[in-house]
Amino acid sequence: MKRVDILPAQGKLGVLLVGLGAVSTTLIAGVAAVGKGLAKPIGSLTQMGTIRLGKRTESRSPKISELFPLASPDDIVFGGWDIFEENCYEAAKTAGVLEPQLLDQIRPELEAIRPWPAVFDRKYVKRLDGPNVKRGKNKKDLAEQVSADIRRFKTERGLDRLVMVWCGSTEVYLTESPAHASIAAFEAALESSDESIPSSMVYAYAAIKEGIPYANAAPNLSADIPALVELAQRTRSPIAGKDLKTGQTLMKTIIAPGLKARLLGVEGWYSTNILGNRDGEVLDDPDSFKTKEESKKSVLDYILQPHLYPDLYRNIHHVVRINYYPPRGDNKEGWDNIDLVGWLGYPMQLKINFLCRDSILAAPIVLDVALFLDLAKRAGMAGIQEWLSFYFKSPQHAPELYPEHDVFIQLMKLKNTLRHLAGEELITHLGLEYYD
Ligand SMILES: NC(=O)c1ccc[n+]([C@@H]2O[C@H](COP(=O)([O-])OP(=O)(O)OC[C@H]3O[C@@H](n4cnc5c(N)ncnc54)[C@H](O)[C@@H]3O)[C@@H](O)[C@H]2O)c1
Repeated sequence: MKRVDILPAQGKLGVLLVGLGAVSTTLIAGVAAVGKGLAKPIGSLTQMGTIRLGKRTESRSPKISELFPLASPDDIVFGGWDIFEENCYEAAKTAGVLEPQLLDQIRPELEAIRPWPAVFDRKYVKRLDGPNVKRGKNKKDLAEQVSADIRRFKTERGLDRLVMVWCGSTEVYLTESPAHASIAAFEAALESSDESIPSSMVYAYAAIKEGIPYANAAPNLSADIPALVELAQRTRSPIAGKDLKTGQTLMKTIIAPGLKARLLGVEGWYSTNILGNRDGEVLDDPDSFKTKEESKKSVLDYILQPHLYPDLYRNIHHVVRINYYPPRGDNKEGWDNIDLVGWLGYPMQLKINFLCRDSILAAPIVLDVALFLDLAKRAGMAGIQEWLSFYFKSPQHAPELYPEHDVFIQLMKLKNTLRHLAGEELITHLGLEYYD
């Protein structure tokens, strides 16, 4: 197989973060701390992962970062927008994820990052309001202001390449509308400030129009509409989303494939969470929660395939709850009760209690997504990057396909894509040749 031509990762990579909240500040502080040797990048495939190449007998398992010219975290320059004026140090303190002792060791780097005024409208995030907001004559004007921020950042910081990741709050539930159907309809809707264009789409449009890769860490539609997918193809921008797969859903997509592999039936799956950070506060609004709920609920249907296994999964009761509970801050606690059915219909139960840290799980995967999107751009890949489904609860996918949610299939797809780019044989795990 031939190695795909990939442009080198020369110079600096600008990572544009929309929303400097818990996830973004934990990422930025983490990259700075790792760069100073204060901590390890645990949870990041690009930083710690290896990839097996060739036959098992060859013993070739280089680090992924050695296989490709991935951007080095030391070459990343962060910039971003938020509706609050706090610099990144203050925002990290507000988020309360990382210890003050760690933040104080990287304080100057964090203080230097001040959010640019945001495109924001309370219509789409009802529980928040802040002073650092752009004014414009219409949404097209706002998109142009975002592009101007990006261009200024690129010039002032001497950047070679850029990637944008929406790490802003979850917007209210929206479905596709005629304004999302084509680039022309979308641009007309920007001009008339159509209600069906929330703030996240304004940023996504500004990035994709410039050929900048775009990812969505939250469940709102954002770039997952025909107009922006078409624009991404036209400008050769890789895009990925939606909604980072971190706590409870990560566990669900690890456990469910295992139950199905053994053909154990599932009658019910009850998931509940308590969460006390700003994300939890935003999700306390029923319209934002609806966006999250849709994203969290779809995974079981696709993994368990009730249409193929009606006896096992046809009548599954799947319930997902998130309760805002301030004392917990970012330290979410999730409970899952799974009602299983075994041989001859005998019932069993499985209980999972995950005491996780939301942003500690999210930060490394935002880093991976940013670095892999930059790789995709340099490799000439454009449009939806389904191989990055591994990182998302609601993977963006082509309209004619169903999304793949099984985390093990997703990882296989990601690694086989890397092998393909490197001109290495794809791994099938067949291995019959060893027994000839
Ligand atoms: N932490 C996780 O594990 C995880 C997992 C999946 C998805 N997410 C999603 O990622 C997003 C970020 O999570 P978080 O915990 O950092 O939330 P957060 O509330 O701490 O941060 C979001 C930030 O975005 C800002 N913001 C909102 N609208 C904006 C806009 N239009 N422009 C600029 N800034 C804007 C807010 O002011 C806030 O500072 C949320 O949507 C969340 O649902 C997080």
